[in-house]
Order: sequence, then structure tokens, then C-alpha cells
Amino acid sequence: MLTIEDLPLNDKVVFLRVDMNTPIEPSTGKLMELNRIQEATVTVRDLSKAKVVVGSHQGRVGRDDYIPLAQHAEAMSKLLNKRVKFADDIFGPTGLREIDSLRSGEVLLLDNLRFTAEENMEFTPIEASKTILVQKLYKHFDACVLDAFPTAHRAHPSIVGFSYLLPTCAGRLVSKELKALKNIALVSKPPFTTVLGGAKVSDRLEAIDTLIANKRADRVLLCGLIANVFLRATRKIEHDIGVDNEPKLVERAAQLLTDYPDTFELPQDVAIISNRERKEIAVSELTPKDKVYDIGSKTIDHYSRIIRSSGTVFMSGPPGFFEDPNFGLGTESLLRAMASSFGTTIVSGGHLSAALERFGVKEWIDHVSTSGGALVLFLAGKRLPLIEALENYEAKIKK
Ligand code: 3PG
Repeated sequence: MLTIEDLPLNDKVVFLRVDMNTPIEPSTGKLMELNRIQEATVTVRDLSKAKVVVGSHQGRVGRDDYIPLAQHAEAMSKLLNKRVKFADDIFGPTGLREIDSLRSGEVLLLDNLRFTAEENMEFTPIEASKTILVQKLYKHFDACVLDAFPTAHRAHPSIVGFSYLLPTCAGRLVSKELKALKNIALVSKPPFTTVLGGAKVSDRLEAIDTLIANKRADRVLLCGLIANVFLRATRKIEHDIGVDNEPKLVERAAQLLTDYPDTFELPQDVAIISNRERKEIAVSELTPKDKVYDIGSKTIDHYSRIIRSSGTVFMSGPPGFFEDPNFGLGTESLLRAMASSFGTTIVSGGHLSAALERFGVKEWIDHVSTSGGALVLFLAGKRLPLIEALENYEAKIKK
């Protein structure tokens, strides 16, 4: 795979696709941590002689985290100790003017790429190359550097479209992740345990089947929203749980439980909020008005024992809403069980990297990745559009 030393990038306008998608504090709209922004600065630093146009998405349409990138530009400026210009635009007159007036060594951040409709849709590379987003911008760029490893599973125009038209190579984060994962694959051994939590259910459901079929998950410990989907499928929860596309997800979970009856572990108890405090109850006591914020102590003990006796443990998505000290117990305990285990350990996702730092156990984990869904799919053995885009360009120039 080509990297930035393989292309003549000095004094050239380089589109750098990173992933600075960051959790946002809903009440203030502020960035909750800077891990992914910090990671993005590594490649920006190494492109110090180019004219760098940085692109990223943030959040999803209709959610609290769907915000402009002004704060990201500010944070990047601080981390790089140099001014990062912010366009407040993508391909309108302001954006194009800012791009064309860049000087070597300068960095410009475009606004949230998902503010364009097309960046919320999946395309083949050739279709993506014809989108308005790519067509308006690509003539202003000389090359494309793909470094958005956490978005590697999305065939969005900025991931697969520019790379169809422009010389393209991998950034530092993509190289670092691929190298670390190759090394992990060499040392990891069974039994393989996967711990799944967080709020993004459909990506994880999609990957579970492949993870199990490819012998990458002998046991799957479920927490968070995905656990509720499975509890619903087993009828341990009888009421609707309020996830998008619920009937389809529940049906998929039911099928997985039938296909792999001995693989899944579901919570026995959970933590809910009562008088602003943590209250642990059995799953059977849950009522439609209760919102689950964490796994309970019995589940924590059971899952911790499995984690400690595993050869390899992979965790994606936090077990609970650890940002609130009342609900950090599940996340902290399971991360500590991983940190103290003798097996190989991989932790994935922006929230969990922040949790590892908060609980002071980051150094004890073998590989920490800020990628969430993309890493799950990669470990499951799925082809990722961003990696394919890099391979396609390399194959093209070899011809
Ligand atoms: C992530 O956080 O997993 C990536 O930024 C991709 O975000 P998405 O799931 O909203 O596409």
C-alpha cells in the first residue's frame, strides 16, 4: 500500500480525509475528548510542505453530535501549535477560494462533510467520482491521502470518490492500524471473546455473524443497546426498546441465537436510574419506562470471569454510560478485567479509548484503536471500502 513518501506531495494541494468524529456533550455541544483529532494531526505534521485540505465528518444527521467543525479546527490548531484555517463551507465559493489561496505549509479544515447529502450515502467508486461533492472539489486537489480508518467501512464519496480520480496513498493512522492488527493476528490465540456494547447496533449485528463464522468469537458478551435487542429477541424484555428499525434488528438477533445457541451471554441484571442514583435490578424487573444505563454487578462478575480466562479479548462499544459516574462500574470493571488478563487484548472505539484514559489502564491493553464499527468489520474479515480504494490505486499505477 502506498504511503505519503511514495507520492510527490510537497507544494501540492493534498486532500486529507481523516475521521475526527468525536462524542459531543449534549447539553453544551462541546467536544468531549480529543483522541481522534490528536491522531489526525500526525499525518498533518508529516505533510508540512504540502497545502493540506482536511476533510472529516462529524455525527449523524438529526443527532445532537451533527455539528460544524469550528471546534475541531481550534483543537487541531492547539495540538499542532499552528493555525488551522476553518472554511465554514465545503465546495461553495468560500471553500474553493480558501483552497485555491492555500500556501505550502498551510492547513485548511473544510466543514462537516456530512452537511452534503451525498456524504451520507454509499456509492461504488465510479459513482462516487461523479457525485457533486467530488466533481466540485477534485480539480482543486493534486492528490488524496486517506487516513480515516474509523470510517473505512463507509463507501462515502470522500472515501472512495477522490481516490478514483487522484493519486492516492495511506496516511499514518491507516498504516499504524494495519501494522498493529497484523502483529495482533500473529499472537492472538483462542478462546476468543468479544465484548459488544455501545449504541451502534446495526453495524455490530452485521459483523457478529462473520466474527463467529471466521472463528474470531467463541463467546460474545453483550452489553449496552445491543444487549437489549437480544433480550427482546429472547422475550426477557417484552416491551419495545426504542431503537431504529427495531423489528428487523430483533429478528436478526433471534436468528443469531438460533444459529449459535452457545455463543451469546446476555446480562442477568442491569443498572437504571432511580431518584438520580444507580439502582440495580434483574432484567425480569425492567418496565417500559426504565432506561438501562449499565450492566449490573452479577453480570459484571460473570463477564469478568470469562474475560480473564480468554486467550484473546476484543471489546467494542462501552458496556455502560460511563460518562456519568453512577454508571461507570460496568465499563471500568470489564476494562480492568481485560487489563489484568494474560490474553491478548484489543479495545476499539472513541468512547472506549476515552474510558481507558479515565480509568488509567490504557497502557495495559495490547492494542487500543479509536475505530469502532470499522475495526469490528475488519476483524470479522470484511473488505473495507477505504482499504479497497488504496489497493485499487496501487493496482492502477502498477499496470
Ligand atoms: C465511527 O465513529 O464509527 C465513525 O466515525 C463512523 O461513523 P458512523 O457510524 O456514523 O458512520
